[in-house]
Amino acid sequence: MRRALYLLCLLPLGLFTACDDDEGGNSVIDYDAIDLISYSQHVQPIFSASCTKCHGANLAEAGLRLDSWDNIVKGSDNGEALIAFKSADSRIVQMLSKLVGGPHPAEVGSAVLLPSEQTFLARWIDEGAINDAKENPYQNASDLLYVCCQDAAQVRIVDMASNNVIRIVDFVELGYSSDCKPHHVAVEPDGSYWYVSLIGDNRVVKLNPRNEVVTDISIIKPGLLETDPNSNLLYISRSMTAPEDISTIGVIDRATMLPVTGDTDGEIPMQFELPHALELDATGRYLYTGSLVQGAFMRYDTQSEDLTSGTIAQGSGPLEAELSPDGTRLFYTGQADGKLYAFNINGSEDPEAAGSIELGSKPWHMDFSADGQLLYVALNGDNRVAVVNSADNTIRAMVQGNGLAMPHGVAVSPDGKYVYVSNRNKDGSYTPRHDFGDNEFDGTLVVISTFDSQIVKVLELAALPTGVNIAR
Ligand code: HEC
Repeated sequence: MRRALYLLCLLPLGLFTACDDDEGGNSVIDYDAIDLISYSQHVQPIFSASCTKCHGANLAEAGLRLDSWDNIVKGSDNGEALIAFKSADSRIVQMLSKLVGGPHPAEVGSAVLLPSEQTFLARWIDEGAINDAKENPYQNASDLLYVCCQDAAQVRIVDMASNNVIRIVDFVELGYSSDCKPHHVAVEPDGSYWYVSLIGDNRVVKLNPRNEVVTDISIIKPGLLETDPNSNLLYISRSMTAPEDISTIGVIDRATMLPVTGDTDGEIPMQFELPHALELDATGRYLYTGSLVQGAFMRYDTQSEDLTSGTIAQGSGPLEAELSPDGTRLFYTGQADGKLYAFNINGSEDPEAAGSIELGSKPWHMDFSADGQLLYVALNGDNRVAVVNSADNTIRAMVQGNGLAMPHGVAVSPDGKYVYVSNRNKDGSYTPRHDFGDNEFDGTLVVISTFDSQIVKVLELAALPTGVNIAR
């Protein structure tokens, strides 16, 4: 019976009213009766009837085509149209149900979907947005970027090949508190397991490639994370919100997620307050941090356990440390005084101060270009990204534009093509493209082309994007 009605719906437009509500308000297609959703039989017909005249081959508004599963999965010029398993965060569903001022596409003069069609599309997305071959969107994606959305208790995973958000890992669903505050991520070099610091819940969590929790460890106010590619060690610095008298960096065996025992018992004493910056050299021998309070750096020799300290600058409030890929230059961002500080590194010799440069307000995280020549520095207080020549501390370019709004995290793609910058937008200086009533202060991920330092895409994320990372 259902099959016969369904065939009617496939007939040309003249007969299409057969699928509309009858006068009693009952939808003729009983979506609730569909057990197994077939993309081509149940989903595409909805888009073809109501959407493809504006989102098809001839006209693709916003660059979005809804005429095939592949095209829907590609998304629009602005980003993804849907996120598998998460209908409430999918742009298609939000456009149809949440737009302030009336649902899409009524506001552009076309008929809106029936409530039963909307519910069905949401169900299809929540069940994984599968196609006829039962594939989930981006199920084999491997160029992944992890972006913390601290105030939304989420990590959003971006596919760097398409520059779309492809998954959302919701830490409340995983059993953590809504105030757990995921802050920073580290990913295994082979892209398998990944780790996230939860400032609010005082935990570091290990997740597998299916984004399921493997185990977690309790640690007070974790901040930044660094994996040693040569061993099983994971280093954990302290959140800026930690009590000032905390002076240790955590070190755990990431295979077991247990503290490394011995002299340190899982906490390396740094002998100064609030070590937040964190950088490990490529050999895993030297770990660098900085004291947010004392404006000083510390180098920890992981073999001899010796500490070497030195001054960055009083009142500089060093936030992050970054080594050039060849290991010869070390930089600290002075979030409190607006400067970038350089040091020359030569084996076991003490780091040697090599000048500083005035960058602007609140230099935050940074990352190197693939060739090591350029350093991209987020200027959290200026809504800009500085592009610095790392050899001589000069400014090559300043990137600014829509989407850069309290920039925080920075990561360069492994192929060197893009710089990804997360933006907190806590001040609302970025206005989201669509008003869904509750997304006023949601942050962004800005994609910058390294070729010409131009912004190529602005992905809209959830509240307070902070740390970003890739497999390394
Ligand atoms: C009459 C033309 C028209 C029809 C029909 C139409 N759209 Fe659109 N759509 C637009 C225009 C114009 C935009 C760009 C403006 C905007 O984003 O508000 C847009 C934007 C969108 C976007 C946002 C893309 C982005 O990333 O910014 C989504 C999602 C979308 N449409 C989905 C749909 C769906 C689903 C349907 C069918 C139920 C549909 N549209 C039907 C004209 C249309």
